[in-house]
Amino acid sequence: MTDSNADRAAEVHPATDAHRAAEVPAAVEFMRSRLPWTPEVFGVLGSGLGFLADALEDPVSVPFAEIPGFPAAAVAGHQGRMVAGVLEGRKVLLQAGRFHVYEGHPLPVVVAPVRIAAALGAPIFLVTNAAGGINPDFGPGTLMLIQDHLNLMGRNPLIGPPSEGEPRFPDMSAAYDPGLRGLARATARDLGIALAEGVYAAVTGPSYETPAEVRMIGLLGGDAVGMSTVPEVITARVVGMRVLGISLITNPGAGISPAPLDHAEVLEAGREAAPRFEQLIRGVLSRLV
Ligand code: HPA
Repeated sequence: MTDSNADRAAEVHPATDAHRAAEVPAAVEFMRSRLPWTPEVFGVLGSGLGFLADALEDPVSVPFAEIPGFPAAAVAGHQGRMVAGVLEGRKVLLQAGRFHVYEGHPLPVVVAPVRIAAALGAPIFLVTNAAGGINPDFGPGTLMLIQDHLNLMGRNPLIGPPSEGEPRFPDMSAAYDPGLRGLARATARDLGIALAEGVYAAVTGPSYETPAEVRMIGLLGGDAVGMSTVPEVITARVVGMRVLGISLITNPGAGISPAPLDHAEVLEAGREAAPRFEQLIRGVLSRLV
């Protein structure tokens, strides 16, 4: 067994990762052939929030199964398709259903849709998720503008050789675009929609947190906890997209309420918040300059 750089690189990037990552150009080519235009916004819809894809005008729906390198989405509440269409006059590409670390997907797969959207020319990344409330003021149904994040996944999607033209050590000091955050706050205010703001902490899951972990995340400065978003946001920043993130708090974090946590509760909170959530997203899109 030699200890060459190539061997070590192969350990860091198992064959599947390299294979998947290599399919991004094919997926870009394929999506370009299906889309009628260059998207102005790329959005990822979190658990229970896929309904927004149905609001698009002139939709073009592309199941994940047709896209080179894409696994099929397998989580309840996630649809497994890309939908391009117009919302509030904006050309939007939405990913309904995402690839999670807890499903066993390598990070290059988790973040592939972001790289594809960037290569298609989308300048803005709108990321949404369902999250547990850590801040005691953020009860179920709270919409939380993501101000910043804590990466508690123990991994980073940029580990490995940097892609052509990308910085080795990208800045994350304003990962969530201050201008877009201001726009979201102003929109919520004008529409009379309550919008909290806080720090999203990302864990891998799939087990929910213990009460001790929820207390720890609170001490670290987290206001919400979830199992997604951070790998996609880090990737969006390295490819130069502006990011707007919104969490829907679906349940109190473990131990905050006596009830056990349950995925059905997450999906139900999505249904309840749907009208407010859609109104806020429409408002933001209509105000983008
Ligand atoms: N923890 C982690 N992820 C989640 C939660 C939670 O409480 N609720 C929705 N996604």
